Amino acid sequence: MNERETWATRAGFILAAVGSAVGLGNIWQFPFKTAQFGGASFLIVYVIAALGIGLPAILAEFVIGRRSNLNTISAFEKLGHKNWRFVGALGLFTGFWILSYYSVVGGWVLRYIGGSLTGAYFGAPAKYFGQISAGMDALALHAVFMALVVVIVAAGIEDGIEKATKLMVPSIIVILGALAIFAFTLPGASEGYAYFLSPDFDALFANLGDIVPFAVGQAFFSLSLGMGAMITYASYIDGDQSLFGDGITIVFLNSFVGILAGLVVLPLLFAQGIDPNTSGAGAVFISVAGAFANIPGGQAIGLIFFLVVLIAALSSAISLLEVVVSWAIDNYDVTRPQMAILLGGVIFLLGVPSALDTAWLGWFDTLAYKFFLPVGVLGILIFVAWVYGAPALDEVMKGSGLGEGVGLTWLWLARTLVIVAVVATLVLGFQTLFLGESPAIIPPI
Ligand code: PFF
Repeated sequence: MNERETWATRAGFILAAVGSAVGLGNIWQFPFKTAQFGGASFLIVYVIAALGIGLPAILAEFVIGRRSNLNTISAFEKLGHKNWRFVGALGLFTGFWILSYYSVVGGWVLRYIGGSLTGAYFGAPAKYFGQISAGMDALALHAVFMALVVVIVAAGIEDGIEKATKLMVPSIIVILGALAIFAFTLPGASEGYAYFLSPDFDALFANLGDIVPFAVGQAFFSLSLGMGAMITYASYIDGDQSLFGDGITIVFLNSFVGILAGLVVLPLLFAQGIDPNTSGAGAVFISVAGAFANIPGGQAIGLIFFLVVLIAALSSAISLLEVVVSWAIDNYDVTRPQMAILLGGVIFLLGVPSALDTAWLGWFDTLAYKFFLPVGVLGILIFVAWVYGAPALDEVMKGSGLGEGVGLTWLWLARTLVIVAVVATLVLGFQTLFLGESPAIIPPI
């Protein structure tokens, strides 16, 4: 069996976890949905969801990971609840699932880095996106992105993930900050700020039924919850640092980067008179890309923008692969590089349909968002708060320096309100999965 690695420093763990959290979700979903759902008023809902639901859930994952020092499946066994291994197994499966299409999108980003250099997407961004997003090119770049992920994960926790994310996360913040300052100088930028941040309580209350589950779902996806990434990362912690402190830092930095991304993309779009009323792939790869065509220095700005998107996507993708690699090397007598290559290969294959047809990609994403992740979060919460209980409280308090009341509040929040919120999110998500006009549950053929 392999000797288990640990993070070299506490900051290393925090940055790796922030790297996992900060990803495509922050850049192509968060700013646009915030603007659409009522700007500053949506931010309030999101912050409540992230702190009131995301934070208790991330702490639950930390507890399992640090207490067991094992991967997301074996952890349940070590904590004395072998029957709950299925929750870890679901997480592992979700890791495969999400990375398979996340990597295809990573491939698009690579393509746009090249496209910025040559100006390839400047003329007709929608047409360009249509050409490159599916087919043999997309497949090849999906392979390249997966290879980058494999290289970092193969290098190990301290030498691979920790070193990489120590460089990547500060770079994301600095570069996005610089781009936000640049966007500020563009004429028309102020309309972008108004659209992004002015509170619209009417829009908020009129769509509350859509907004609340979206805010909760976004908090899960964005904080990488429900599939064992945070369990796995916390399993490499060596020491009694405050999990509360780490969790709050991660939630704060993750939201901060989402807001920063909004301060880049929305002024950019408004400066060009482009309608931002979209989110997802179209928003970033068509609207934002289109804006670069007309701004001074657009090629360079486009290059820097897509570079930062690439770094964010990579630092998230490595946490997805680490979930499965960690399980394999904890349980079998195989080396980390061997497993990284093998499992990376399997994930590449699973991503082939998404690389060949964006309808598959959308279907994979919808199922992950609305089904696998909330079910995973629910399983983890029920386990930690109700089944494991007292030792979980003990673990969360360790090194926190806080009064017992704080831990008890966490435990009872997790036992009640948070579980209710997750169930509600699941039910609402189910309605659109199975009962909508074109239910997403039917895979494309
Ligand atoms: N948090 C990532 C994002 O916002 O793009 C996505 C993600 C990464 C989800 C890792 C889940 C995960 F385990």
